[in-house]
Amino acid sequence: MKILKYLITFVLLIIFAVTSKASDKPPLALAGLPDFTISQGQYLYQRYCLFCHGENGGGDGQNAFSLPKRPADLNEVVPERNDEQLFAVIIQGGVKNILSPAMPSYELTLSKQQIRQLILYLKTFRKKQELRREMLLDNTDKIKKVGAGEGNT
Ligand code: HEC
Repeated sequence: MKILKYLITFVLLIIFAVTSKASDKPPLALAGLPDFTISQGQYLYQRYCLFCHGENGGGDGQNAFSLPKRPADLNEVVPERNDEQLFAVIIQGGVKNILSPAMPSYELTLSKQQIRQLILYLKTFRKKQELRREMLLDNTDKIKKVGAGEGNT
């Protein structure tokens, strides 16, 4: 019986050693999981792009209306471009891509890694817009039902 107790303690010690070693590794989020990258992209977007392209990418930031050309609605444009095209316009700016000079070049401001993080974030706009639209349609349906006396069903 005593041997069994020793055996169990031994096994528990090994399990403890193995699991505590695993926790020495950096948290998964820091290993570059998409979520982490998207929140980095969000930070960069808010810092560098929001005042022209607007909070939800609609091209309606506070600076948008004083520009000779309205900033692109990223909800519409981003799904139509591939990553290379998005990369090119952010790093080179509008002029080199036969677009308005009002779209700045970020070659000297952002690293390639940061631009990749930004692109990941730009792709979330369309999804959010679709979600908002669905929620709106959902509510409109409910409002109609309430109007027709079918509420609370
Ligand atoms: C000073 C205002 C301004 C800022 C800041 C700005 N943009 Fe733009 N952006 C524009 C304008 C204006 C256009 C439209 C150019 C055109 O259609 O001729 C544009 C277009 C774009 C496009 C669409 C290009 C295409 O292929 O049609 C993307 C993508 C874009 N911007 C991303 C960004 C990102 C990412 C940032 C931040 C790092 C940013 N922009 C910052 C003004 C701005």
